[in-house]
Amino acid sequence: MNLKIALLPGDGIGPEVSAQAVKCLQAVADTFGHQFKFTEAIVGAKAIDKTGNPLPDATLQLCKDSDAVLFGAIGDPKYDNDPNAKIRPEQGLLKLRKELGLFCNIRPVKVFPSLIDKSPLKKKNIRGTDFVIYRELIGGIYFGEKNLSKDGTVASDLCTYSEAEISRIAHLAFKEAKTRKKKLTLVDKANVLESSRLWRKVVSKIGESYPEITLEFLFIDNAAMQLILNPSQFDVILTGNMFGDILSDEGSAIGGSIGLLPSASVGENNALFEPIHGSYPLAKDKDIANPIASILSAAMLLDHFNLDEESRAVVIAVLKSMKNEIVTPDLDKNSKYGTNYVGDFISGNIKESDEHLTINRENIW
Ligand code: IPM
Ligand code: MG
Repeated sequence: MNLKIALLPGDGIGPEVSAQAVKCLQAVADTFGHQFKFTEAIVGAKAIDKTGNPLPDATLQLCKDSDAVLFGAIGDPKYDNDPNAKIRPEQGLLKLRKELGLFCNIRPVKVFPSLIDKSPLKKKNIRGTDFVIYRELIGGIYFGEKNLSKDGTVASDLCTYSEAEISRIAHLAFKEAKTRKKKLTLVDKANVLESSRLWRKVVSKIGESYPEITLEFLFIDNAAMQLILNPSQFDVILTGNMFGDILSDEGSAIGGSIGLLPSASVGENNALFEPIHGSYPLAKDKDIANPIASILSAAMLLDHFNLDEESRAVVIAVLKSMKNEIVTPDLDKNSKYGTNYVGDFISGNIKESDEHLTINRENIW
């Protein structure tokens, strides 16, 4: 298969971790006889510094012209600490998601057996955790009208959702549940928010055409608690933009490190793959950032193009690194292995073998 991949390493640790994902995709291409052509472009704080724009037109155009986007991370403390900044790195990612129509953000959360001891939670509570968050990505409070009063003392962000926006992601979430444990939990705040009540109405109606799926509803506050108390109860979680953002960071703590969680953002015509973590500026250029979230995002990219065996090869190589304790210091504070070494180990282990074929996808990722 020939794939044109736009590579947007972004800020902070983004370049280091996405370089490891590229190594792995290159290993897949070499092993399985594919051609992946990477073209790099700037985004985020780096792009602001160079052009004044967090998403330059050339970057957007490249993404539109590519089969997929591999994204690193975005954000820089110099903007985080300046509430008056008019231009912010994050605007680049938000605009990119919107322009590419990436309405569905998929974030799998799984506890890896060999890392179960790394979790801050009790083993007995988290064993068997395997759920996926379907987060609406281009609507809601993130994209509603924003206002700041002239005197700067009152601000608002509007949360709007339409039936069409809810139903397109709901269908994808129900379809995903059909291939899994057949349970879908809609997370909202329908006891307070009108927009959440619309989500309930639309999702309930759609649920009638998926009779084999058990549909449950949970308020966000309760969901945040349940995720910590009993995460293995979940299968597919469907939710809006903001709640999905918060729950996915919370979900990452279950497995022991935010450096493990990948994501895919898909729309009608485009797809983008990125770790759920941020730019982690404190770790930048220290060779300590965990590349696994980025590498597993590359595995999701392969999955997206139905390259199942290739995706499995990546996941198996990741599992091997964990079993052999070839992990970065976030997972083992005494680890002597850095971002690059872990990336080399994983990419070096991606090779065609019977192992890839005999392992059932459900058991590994
Ligand atoms: C994420 C991030 C982004 C978001 C930021 C960087 C804009 O936190 O992908 O979860 O809030 O969506
Ligand atoms: Mg987030």
